[in-house]
Amino acid sequence: MRILVLGSGAREHAIILALRAEATEHALFAAPGNAGIGQDAVLVDLDANDPAAVTAYANEHAIDLVVIGPEAPLVAGVADSLRERGIPVFGPGRAAAQLEGSKAFAKRIMETAGVPTGRAVRAHTLDEVAAALDDLGAPHVVKADGLAAGKGVIVTPDRDAALAHAETYLPTGPVLVEEFLDGPEVSLFFLSDGDHVLPLSPAQDFKRLGDGDTGPNTGGMGAYSPLPWLDERFGGERTFVDRVTAEIAEPVIGRLDAEGTPFIGLLYAGLIVTDDGVKVIEFNARFGDPETQVVLPRLTDPLSELLLAAASGNLEDHDLPAFSDQAAVAVVLASEGYPEHPVTGRELTGLDAASAVEGVHLAHAATTRDGEVLRAIGGRVLSVVALGADIAESRDRAYRAVSEIGFEGGQYRTDIAALAVAG
Ligand code: AMP
Ligand code: GLY
Repeated sequence: MRILVLGSGAREHAIILALRAEATEHALFAAPGNAGIGQDAVLVDLDANDPAAVTAYANEHAIDLVVIGPEAPLVAGVADSLRERGIPVFGPGRAAAQLEGSKAFAKRIMETAGVPTGRAVRAHTLDEVAAALDDLGAPHVVKADGLAAGKGVIVTPDRDAALAHAETYLPTGPVLVEEFLDGPEVSLFFLSDGDHVLPLSPAQDFKRLGDGDTGPNTGGMGAYSPLPWLDERFGGERTFVDRVTAEIAEPVIGRLDAEGTPFIGLLYAGLIVTDDGVKVIEFNARFGDPETQVVLPRLTDPLSELLLAAASGNLEDHDLPAFSDQAAVAVVLASEGYPEHPVTGRELTGLDAASAVEGVHLAHAATTRDGEVLRAIGGRVLSVVALGADIAESRDRAYRAVSEIGFEGGQYRTDIAALAVAG
C-alpha cells in the first residue's frame, strides 16, 4: 500500500515503524515528519492541516490510505475532505472529533449513551464555579472547554487555586467543574469504522512532569503496556477490555452514529479505575502520545490492514487484534524548560549507543538534522522505547538506553512503570 501519515511526533514515528515492521512492504510518506521519521519514510513538504493540499497530494500520488496522527488536522476538516473524494482515511471528521475538542460535547454524548463518568457542572460565572466546587467537594477538578493542550486542567485540594484557574479561562467561555475520580489511570484505544470497534491493549501514561506525579501536566512523559495490575483487579486484561468495550466504547460509537456523525478512526478512552467501577475522564479522537509508542510495538497483526479496514467500514469481519506477551516501556526525553518554555536547538548525542541496547528503539519527535548533528527543536524530543520479557526488564533496558544519551538540560522521569514493577 501507499500510505501517508500526517504529523511529526513520536506517535507518528511509532505508527510508521509498525507499518515498516509488517511482512508486506509499503511505500510510506510522512507530512511533515521529523529527522527520525525521515529514516523510515519519505518526508513530504505539505501543510498537514490544509484539507485541500492533503487531498490534492493524496490524489496525485495515488495514496491508498491516509493516517491522521494529531488532532489539529481532524479539527481542520482534513478527514472530511479526503472522504468526500473517496480516499480512505483513518481519522474522524470535524464533527465527530468534537468528542476530544469539546468537553461539553463529550459529556453530552456520554450522558445520552449512559456511559459512566464523573459528575460535572458547566459553570459560566465565578459564582457558579464556587457553588459547584462546594457541591462536588475536594479535591477540585476544573477544566477549560475546548483545546488547551493539557494546560486547561487543574486538579487541586486548594479551593482558591481552583477558583483562580477558573477565572483565567472564564473570559473565553464556560468551564467544567468535575467530581474528582480516585484510582489508577488507563488509556485504552479502540479502532472504529463508525459502527464496530476493536480494542487494542491497555497502556498507562505519566502526565505530570516530575517523579512521583509532581509538577505541571504535560503531553505525557512515559508509558508502559500491558498493565500487570489489571490481572489482579479484573482477573485478566481480557475481562477489563471486554467490559470497557461493551460499557463505554460501543455505546459512544453507537451514539455518534445515531446522531449522524459516525466516528471513523481511533477512539482513545482515558479511564480511571475507581472503587465504584471504571469511569471516563476524557476521550481523544486520535492515538495517544506516548501510549502509542508502547502499544504498537506489541501488536502482532499487520497495522495497515486494521487501519484500512476501519477506514473502509470493514471491521466487523476482523478478529480481535493480537499482541505479544512482551512488555514495553517508553521514557520521554524533553527539553529544558518544557512544558512552559522549551529551550530549542541543543545537540543530541549517543543515540546510536542508546539504540544498541537490547530491545531498544527510538521514536523521534522534535528532532532535526543540521549537517552531521542532530538537534532538538521542541518540547518532547524523543521516546526511548524498550521491549522485554516483562516490565522490569523493559524498564531496565529503557533507562540504560536513556543514560547513553547526551542532551544538555534534558528532562525525563526516573519512575516510569516503577510502581508496576514493585507490584
Ligand atoms: P484531561 O485533559 O481531561 O485528560 O485531564 C488531564 C489529567 O488530569 C488526567 O489525565 C487526569 O490525571 C487528571 N484528571 C482530569 N479529570 C480528572 C478527574 N475528574 N478526576 C481525577 N483526575 C482527573
Ligand atoms: N498521552 C496523552 C495524550 O495523548 O493525550
